[in-house]
Amino acid sequence: MTIRPILLHPDPRLKKPAAPVAEITPDLVALARDMLETMYDAPGIGLAAPQIGVSKRLIVMDCIKDPEAEPRPMILFNPEITWASEARSSYEEGCLSIPEQYAEIERPAEVRVRWRDETGAEHEEPFSGLWATCVQHEIDHLDGKLFIDYLGPLKRQLITRKMMKLKREQARA
Ligand code: NI
Repeated sequence: MTIRPILLHPDPRLKKPAAPVAEITPDLVALARDMLETMYDAPGIGLAAPQIGVSKRLIVMDCIKDPEAEPRPMILFNPEITWASEARSSYEEGCLSIPEQYAEIERPAEVRVRWRDETGAEHEEPFSGLWATCVQHEIDHLDGKLFIDYLGPLKRQLITRKMMKLKREQARA
C-alpha cells in the first residue's frame, strides 16, 4: 500500500464532479486501499478519490476514533444518498484538503446511503451521528463541493486566503 499526496484547497481538481465507477477493477480496489492507508496516516476519518487527484466516485471512511476500539474501514464505490432525515445536526467539520481549519456545519442528522463495496456487492444502510456527517462530507467531494462552501462568502474567503498562504509557504520549503 502507498500513501498518496493529498491535494490542498484551492485546487481545480477539488471542484470537479467525479465520474461514476463503471467497473470495480483490481486497480481501483488497490487505489481504495491506498486511500485508507493515506486517511489513517493523515490521520482522518474520511477521504474521497478527488482529494488524491482521481476523478472517480469512490470514498473511504472509518469514524471509529477510539484507538482501543476495532477499526471499521469502509470502501464505498458510487455512494448515493437515497434518503435524508428532516432532523439536522451540526458538527465541527474539518477536511484533509483544508488542514487546521474547522467550522460548525449543519446537515441532515441521518441518511440512507446506497453503494457498492470492493467485491461489487450492493449495500444500502442508514448512517447516523458522526458517520452521517462524514459520509455526506465525502459524497460532497465527489460533486466538487467542500465544507467551506456551506459558509458565508467572508468566512470562506478568509479560509481560502489562509490556505493559499500555506501552499505558498509549502512551495518555498
Ligand atoms: Ni474533506
